[in-house]
Amino acid sequence: MSQLQLPKSFNLVFFGGTGDLVTRKLLPGMYQCDRNGLLVPDGRIYCLGRQDLTQEMYLAKIEEKAREFIPKADWDDRVWSAFLSRLQYVRVDAGEPAEYAVLKEVLERNPAEVNVFFLSVAPSFFTTVCDNLARQGLSRPDCRVVLEKPLGHDLASSNAITEAVGKHYRENQIYRIDHYLGKESVQNLMALRFGNALFEPLWRREWISNVQITIAEEVGIGSRGGFYEGTGALRDMVQNHLLQLLCFIAMEPPVSLDSNAIRDEKLKVLESLIPFKDEDVFKKTVRGQYRAGKLHGKPVVAYTEEAGIPPDSKTETFVAIKAEIANWRWAGVPFYLFTGKRLPTRLAEIVINFRDVPHQIFPLAPGAAGAPAKLVIRLQPDEYIRLYLYAKQPGDTMELQPVYLDLNFAGAFKNKTRRAEGYERLLMDIIRGNQSLFVRQDELEQAWRWVEPILNAWASDPAGPRLYAAGTWGPAASAELLSRDGFCWHDEE
Ligand code: NDP
Ligand code: BG6
Repeated sequence: MSQLQLPKSFNLVFFGGTGDLVTRKLLPGMYQCDRNGLLVPDGRIYCLGRQDLTQEMYLAKIEEKAREFIPKADWDDRVWSAFLSRLQYVRVDAGEPAEYAVLKEVLERNPAEVNVFFLSVAPSFFTTVCDNLARQGLSRPDCRVVLEKPLGHDLASSNAITEAVGKHYRENQIYRIDHYLGKESVQNLMALRFGNALFEPLWRREWISNVQITIAEEVGIGSRGGFYEGTGALRDMVQNHLLQLLCFIAMEPPVSLDSNAIRDEKLKVLESLIPFKDEDVFKKTVRGQYRAGKLHGKPVVAYTEEAGIPPDSKTETFVAIKAEIANWRWAGVPFYLFTGKRLPTRLAEIVINFRDVPHQIFPLAPGAAGAPAKLVIRLQPDEYIRLYLYAKQPGDTMELQPVYLDLNFAGAFKNKTRRAEGYERLLMDIIRGNQSLFVRQDELEQAWRWVEPILNAWASDPAGPRLYAAGTWGPAASAELLSRDGFCWHDEE
């Protein structure tokens, strides 16, 4: 996360320039960077697509999307028109080697210190695009390539992408995006742990009983049925976002903010995760799929009734896992991972449960039992850190009940600049050449290696996922995963 200097000029090339990700997230993100004065005057953006669009048609198209996705308060006509002057639509069929000459010519007209190729296209295109770029000499050391998830479907397909991209680009030119790492709240985890001496002595098995990491979503699969049906929650959320969060909680202090120093420590955590044997998978994981239900009083359809989903689908939309780390700091401390779609609310949080006092001399207020100290790190939709402790109830009693100390980031930093969206931070880091918040090849490989036995065991299990009603917190079995160990989910207390 070190602050490398911005280059004097850059060319940022979006493959998939007409697609959802570029128009909904990446271009609005770059606009915000421009609005905040982060882009050098010689920074140009090329948006590639197959469609026959004139420059005017393309700009009109993206403006329509931008007005939808850039908050009204952040819209500035003057900044927008200056931003548009950086943009050029280039018609290139990424599957046609000959058409890359057009791209090369465009880039040669505006040589820049750094050339970034952001592959916002289906992963099946990664090999073709990299081969064709290399054929035009566009794999030079000043070139960087950015890969969006999904990075494979399993270990073998992920390794195939690694090999294909690695033929032309070195690891220090490859930026694998996990957009969770771009969130301010996730970077704050590092600040909390390694910028304060307070927690470090307690951050270990002697004081922590269990850790719970939750990413809950209200949304279903929307229009992504085709993608989701072949993917499921384990590949979509656990293999990447949840494991990355686990790494930030469990890693040892890195020696510096150098990108490899951070990634070396994350890798050690992934390597220490205890692999699942077949028999463990059914004891330590729960998979679910939403059936019809209600969200905020409105009926929602079952997963199997969503567009593009077969009625007998066994794809999971919910996962709960008990993960364990075999090292000196964490041996015996369960890390419970929890994620699902069509849950009652959207929230991402990490709960660090501390051990109870060895001998409680105080009476506890009704309902206060089993709630020893905990640190709740809320990542979204709001962002706060709460330290729950027992305190004496006022009055003529010595009964204790839980209360919390609260750090609310919106309140604490209200006079500072707005909190950037994940992609803004990541795009600037790519241009700067800072890889700290990007996933290294060995991390990716290790994450797949850990997830794969779960995928295999589930695939051979005819029972399929357990059904849960949309708008509930998932199958009851996920609560049992904790109650067997004497714990419960933070939300249920
Ligand atoms: P879309 O289907 O919306 O867009 C696909 C893009 O690929 C279009 O711009 C299309 O251009 C382009 N494309 C397809 N074939 C060719 C070709 N032969 N030559 C040139 N361009 C081509 O996809 P998304 O934008 O949603 O996703 C892009 C990638 O990012 C996918 O891998 C997806 O999994 C990943 N991703 C997306 C997220 C999102 O929020 N959308 C989130 C995380 C990852 P045209 O139609 O002009 O030919
Ligand atoms: C994406 C998944 O990576 O993350 C989606 O493909 C999911 O299925 C999304 O909805 C969640 O991201 P966020 O930032 O909205 O929590």
